This record gives sequence, C-alpha cells and structure tokens, in this order.
Amino acid sequence: MAQRESWATRTGFILAAVGSAVGLGNIWRFPFATADGGGAAFLVMYLAFIALIGFPAILAEFVIGRKAERNPVGALVAYGGNAWKYVGGIFVLIGVVLLSYYSVIAGWFIRYFLEGFRGSYASHLTSYNGDAQAMFFDISFGMESVILHTVFMALTIGIVALGIRQGIELAVKVMVPALIVLLVGLAVWAFTLEGAGAGYSYYLSPEVGAITANWTELLPAAAGQAFFTLSLGMGVMITYASYLREDRNLAKDGVTIIGFDTGIAFLAGLVVFPVFFAGDIQPDEGGPLTIFVGMTEAFANITGGQILGLVFFGTVVIGALSSAISLLEVVTSYAIDEKGIERWKAATGVGVLIYLIGLPVTYDIIFLEVYDGFIDAVLLVFGALMVMVLVGWVAPKAAVDELEKGIGDLGTTAQAWVWAIRVPIIIVLVVSLYLGIVEYLDVLEAFSEWLSGN
Ligand code: TRP
Repeated sequence: MAQRESWATRTGFILAAVGSAVGLGNIWRFPFATADGGGAAFLVMYLAFIALIGFPAILAEFVIGRKAERNPVGALVAYGGNAWKYVGGIFVLIGVVLLSYYSVIAGWFIRYFLEGFRGSYASHLTSYNGDAQAMFFDISFGMESVILHTVFMALTIGIVALGIRQGIELAVKVMVPALIVLLVGLAVWAFTLEGAGAGYSYYLSPEVGAITANWTELLPAAAGQAFFTLSLGMGVMITYASYLREDRNLAKDGVTIIGFDTGIAFLAGLVVFPVFFAGDIQPDEGGPLTIFVGMTEAFANITGGQILGLVFFGTVVIGALSSAISLLEVVTSYAIDEKGIERWKAATGVGVLIYLIGLPVTYDIIFLEVYDGFIDAVLLVFGALMVMVLVGWVAPKAAVDELEKGIGDLGTTAQAWVWAIRVPIIIVLVVSLYLGIVEYLDVLEAFSEWLSGN
C-alpha cells in the first residue's frame, strides 16, 4: 500500500480542523439554535458545554486518531478491539447522512449568493410581495435546488479527490482566512446599524431564571449544537489527527481550534442579531429558515444591502465547503484504509451515494428536520458518548500516554481529564441523549403526519 498521507505544515492541520469546525454550524445553525433557546440563556449553556465537554472530547478524538493513524473504524478497533468496528461503522454512516443534507443547505446559500448578482434583494422580495418566506420556499426546492446540490457535492468531491496536501490543505489555507476577514467586516457593519442595541441585549444578557427553567430543552440543544459545530461525535477529528506525523501539543491545538470555532460562531451572532433587531425581525420563529428569511429582509432594507448580502451568503458557502470536505474525508479515508480503494475512486463513489441520499431534502423541508434532528439530537451525542467510553473506561492508559507525547508528563492533570470523562461527562451525555431522543420523537411524529398527508 502507498505510504499514508500527512499534513505538509503545522498550520495545515490546524486550518483544516478549523475549516471543518467552522461552517453552517456557526452561521446557519448557531443563530437559530440560540434563538430557539431564547437567546442569551442558550448562549450560556452552549459556552459551558463547549468548555467543559467539547474540550475533553476533542482531545479524546485527537489521541485516538494520532495513535492509530487510521480512519475512525480502524482507529476505534485499534483502541478498543474488534467489537468497536460497529461503532466506527455508525460514525461513517453519520458522515454520510450529515453531508447529504449539509450539501443541500450549502446549495441554498449558493442560490442566495447568486441572487445578489441578479439584482438587489429588495427587488427580489418585491416579486414575492415582500414575503421572504415565500421566496425561500420558491427558490430553495425543486430542480434548482437539485442543481446547486450537485454543484456543491462536485466541488467537495473534487477537493477530497486531490488528497490531503494538494486538496484539503491548500483549500483551507485560502478559505479560512477569507472567511474570518469577511465576517469581521460584517460584524463591524452590523454595529453601525440603527437599532442594533436591542439585538446585542437579546443575545448577550442572560436571565438565570430562563436557564434553570428550561434546562431539559437547553441541555440537549446545547449538546447537539456543540458537537455539530466542533465537528465532534463522528470521527472527523480522529481522521484529521491521523494525518499528523509529529507529536504536537494536542491540548494547545485543541484550544486553538475551539477558540476559532467559538469565536466565529459568536461573531456570526454579532452579525445576525443586530441585523434582525435593526430590521424588526423576530429571530425565534423560522428555525432552519431563520437566516435565509431574516437576512434577506435585512439586506432588502439597508443601503448597500446587495453587496453586503452577496458577501454574507458567499462567506457562508466558503465555510460550508471547508466543512463538507472533512465529512467526505472521513468516509473516503474509510474506503481507502479498509477497502483498499484508490482515493479518487473512493471520493467519487461515496460522494455520489451521499448526493443521492440528500435529494429528498431538495424536495421538502420536512426531510431537513428529520435528518438534522436525528444527527444533532441523537447520533452525534451518541458518537461522542462512545468516544468518551473508549477513552475513559476501555483504554485510558493508552489515551493518556498519547496525549503526553508532545506535551510531557501531565501527572494529575491527565488523571483529571480521565476522571472528568469517566463520570460527570458521561452522565451529562447520557442525560442529553435521552432528552434528545424524546425530543426527536416529536419530529418523527410530525414526519408521519406529513407522510399520511401526502
Ligand atoms: N462543524 C461543521 C459546521 O459547523 C459541520 C461538520 C463538519 C461536522 N464535519 C463534521 C459536524 C463532523 C459534525 C461532525 O458546519
């Protein structure tokens, strides 16, 4: 077998991991998850979750991947024994489903980006009598959505087929800095809007009462959002760490990656909420439509909205692409490592399969809720729980040894990591998973009603 690929540069790995983490989760999902959770109350829960569980979890995926130098299936087996191949199989499956709808959403952003070239958002809205929601449903489903889903998947497949250095690493080196610059620019602009203040206070002043009263909803929502946005719970970070040759300080890398991801999500909130409140738009009604509807209305109402809108929607596409390649890379690396398939064939083959699975989402939005709910509320939490069980209970010594490479003797800090995982984190994840499943049952009920109505 050919020698396994590796990152060319130190920053290559960090940027790729940041590129994976930063995506639709930060700009499309984070604002509506925050709004669903009542604004600042959700933000507090989410930040706590990131720091207390996201950080130990990203380290767990890193050590598993770097030691095994394999895709998630091979890596879990290397740590835990043969039975873990089933868990690894679930990880690969999560990647398939997640990317399938991720690509459709990214296609919608491409569509909104292109709208900016065709004329002002105000003029587009006028042709729908000012109804941004009607516009969304009109342009986001059907043939056009299929075409843009095709375009996005083709781009993703192309980059992954080129491999680690020529494809992923090169792509993220351009995309990640571009995304940050654009988003900072948008946040500064949002700050200048009249009425932005109400947006900041909605977003940034939590009420303790709102947190404690709603914790059964906030906890699973924060868990799902945290794992989604950090690309955890299905082996992306296992895979990316598997291409590391040198023994880097993984704790430092983890902090850098989480810092960027959280910073960018926070920044996206600083764009979206002031814009919504300045435009008199209620943030908590649209769910997955929130960004499309709200931002279109906003861009229709402000001077320079056409350019700003184009930049905003284009920025999201960049972020989505650098995340999508990480998802496809997991499935591709599995096909390469475990099945001995050539890289480009593997990427194309699984890419086409994923593409087909995404098609229902171009037909009706109910499929988005069915897919996304299953991933966030159930599968990613389950996946993260499995990683924690592996590191905490099955192979803690191997994990600690691996973590200490590149850092040095961690002594009691390493023990604290293991014990935090063993009991409190696992308990929180089990509770989140339970609450997430209960919530998901509602989605399924809505789906079965939809089915019988069709
Ligand atoms: N983190 C990405 C985002 O926020 C999405 C993503 C990429 C992802 N790879 C992942 C989510 C793996 C979960 C698992 O858009």
